[in-house]
Amino acid sequence: MQVERIAVIGTGTMGNGIAGQAALSGFDVVMFDVDPARVGAAMDQIERTWKKGVDRGKVPAEKVEAGRVRLKTATELDAAVAEADLIIEAVPERMDLKKTLFAAFEAQSGPQTLLASNTSSLSLTEIAAATGCPERVLGMHFFNPVAVMPLVELVRGHHTAPETLAAGQAVAEAMGKQCIEVNDAPGFATSRLGIALGNEAMRMFEEGVASAEDIDKAMKLGYRHPIGPLALTDLVGLDVRLAISEHLYREIGSDTFRPPRILRQMVRAGKLGRKVGQGFYRYD
Ligand SMILES: NC(=O)c1ccc[n+]([C@@H]2O[C@H](COP(=O)([O-])OP(=O)(O)OC[C@H]3O[C@@H](n4cnc5c(N)ncnc54)[C@H](O)[C@@H]3O)[C@@H](O)[C@H]2O)c1
Repeated sequence: MQVERIAVIGTGTMGNGIAGQAALSGFDVVMFDVDPARVGAAMDQIERTWKKGVDRGKVPAEKVEAGRVRLKTATELDAAVAEADLIIEAVPERMDLKKTLFAAFEAQSGPQTLLASNTSSLSLTEIAAATGCPERVLGMHFFNPVAVMPLVELVRGHHTAPETLAAGQAVAEAMGKQCIEVNDAPGFATSRLGIALGNEAMRMFEEGVASAEDIDKAMKLGYRHPIGPLALTDLVGLDVRLAISEHLYREIGSDTFRPPRILRQMVRAGKLGRKVGQGFYRYD
């Protein structure tokens, strides 16, 4: 199926990134969020990202002009998804919420519409079971910040049809991304490895093995990681990382995935990372 119109549901950190990049790449995009303030904030963020791209000479100004025309918002879910060829969901990492939304997507969109989740860890097979069309459901796991990160992890649920995955891949590639294909398993390839490293880095920080800066430097300079595991936790959001870690611990059982105490404490204290100005580091 040829995708031309994309609905992005949830316009937080990931949703605004996906919507902006899709509009820039030639798709007609409609964004929806239950919180109208988040839609306004997403528009502002997208404009900032586009401006940065133009200022750095990475994106031609005409492309931004055209993207702006293709990017729309909706105030109701049904209006957002009714005409979509592909719906990309980017709401918080909660299975109940995703299932409710996927059932609504099926009811409110066309019989061919592809239904994708940007989940970092949850089962696509389980999300798809909330619909009567699991062959049209797939995972499209983008990375933060979407405009910059080159990967999309395509997740194949138990019933995902090959043409669904192929259509998802075509969209991701049109957005300038490279894909990997992963079968439905907790945390897929990326989050499973990322959480293993991030959790261990937090436990080392907690034990006083080294400072946050030096733990991050160890991976940056010693292993050529572009960003250290604690800085990455700040970037992703500590609440998001905690939810993924809890899910992987429940599903896989290994102590590797047991959320570190310091992660729980910091989330309770509101130190959620970059988005609030404080996590393992301070941000002005
Ligand atoms: N943050 C990351 O780095 C990252 C990376 C890859 C994938 N993800 C995944 O992407 C998803 C979204 O994460 P995020 O960091 O963007 O979260 P976020 O909290 O920044 O944004 C979520 C948005 O969803 C909205 N929302 C909540 N319920 C809704 C509903 N019923 N209908 C429409 N909108 C609703 C919220 O108002 C909010 O704006 C999660 O599944 C997460 O695991 C996150």
